[in-house]
Amino acid sequence: MRAYRSRIITFLSTGDIADLEGYLHVREGRVVSIDKYPREGAEVVDYRDFLIVPGFVDTHVHLPQVNIRAKWKPNLLEWLESYVFPEEKRFLDPEYTRRNAEKFFANLARNGTTTAMVYGPPNAESTEVAFEVARESGLRILMGQTLMDQNVPEELVTPVERAGREVKELAKKWNSGKLNYVLTLRFAPACSMDLMRRTAEIAKNMGLRIQTHISEQKNEVSLVREMCGADYAFVYDKAGVLTPRTVLAHAIHLSPGEMSLISSRGSKIAHCPSSNFFLHSGRMPIHEIESHGIDVGLGSDVAAGPYFCMMEVSRDACYMSPISPERAFYLATLGGAKVLGLDKHVGTLEPGRDADFVVVDIDNAGSTREVLSRLVFLGHAGRIVATYSSGHAVWEK
Ligand code: GUN
Ligand code: ZN
Repeated sequence: MRAYRSRIITFLSTGDIADLEGYLHVREGRVVSIDKYPREGAEVVDYRDFLIVPGFVDTHVHLPQVNIRAKWKPNLLEWLESYVFPEEKRFLDPEYTRRNAEKFFANLARNGTTTAMVYGPPNAESTEVAFEVARESGLRILMGQTLMDQNVPEELVTPVERAGREVKELAKKWNSGKLNYVLTLRFAPACSMDLMRRTAEIAKNMGLRIQTHISEQKNEVSLVREMCGADYAFVYDKAGVLTPRTVLAHAIHLSPGEMSLISSRGSKIAHCPSSNFFLHSGRMPIHEIESHGIDVGLGSDVAAGPYFCMMEVSRDACYMSPISPERAFYLATLGGAKVLGLDKHVGTLEPGRDADFVVVDIDNAGSTREVLSRLVFLGHAGRIVATYSSGHAVWEK
């Protein structure tokens, strides 16, 4: 058993915050307890000058966009055409994917992210490779092939029949341990009703999570209304995409009716404030969304979001809406875990959970609020001393 000595702050499943100067006990990849003193026989690791918090949870990030951060263009559809589609075509090559997937997962670890829901490459062969690299990374990764069958360059299209076959095959193979296959639909403008319906049916039968984008920019919302003759959420609902295991990214321009629908289906939202600032997408009304009873987590949305670091994304969440640093910290840890249906495994350092934690070099003196406020407003990757996933250091300074 190991005992990590530090100031340790974590949300608990009761909704309370635990804040202790003590020892985080870890055995066989799991948290045993947090105690004032080390247990007999435990090997002590001294992080007393630092802060330990749960590993961060990124509920929305794109693997094939690891190389195209900070490509400025304040219009989603033009940004996709100019930068995203050309780069995602390169990920059709499994060798390019292997090299860059290694870079992608190393970025997650270096930035303190131990759990992520990921948009994968546009084809099955490269998605397979991305899963192999995810397994080697030791991180907890939910991921899927990014499916598209219209209004995108031809090379990126996966026709419906093939998509159905590939989802079934990949989900059978990559759905155990710390890896799960997610039905990944790019967004309504790039996915036919047939593609969404057929694959959502497979997701239902296999119990898969679903991820897609919703209501990010106003011209995109108008396009969906023109193409499908209904508001965004109603289009997804008609296709069977809105389930309790569905995570929708952005959700900025939803009508109250759409919020009620999403709430009634139990779907969740990935709030991506850094991306929303970068692309000038607008302000997600987090309080209104939460008042509809919808669970919200945070997403880096790399590459529309310029940084992987969830401390920086939390800061942007606080700048976008008046939420407290404690709340932002919750969204980046246990809140995100809940959105992904993983709150019994990660997001908190309660006994029995995965020993996923981050050691941060930040002044750890003062009240809980003071320390969390420094974490959120001063945190960045350079401050991460070590990232542990299931008790193993996946990154050390
Ligand atoms: N909508 C559809 N695809 C994307 C994407 O790759 N990034 C963002 N931010 N929005 C999208
Ligand atoms: Zn996205």
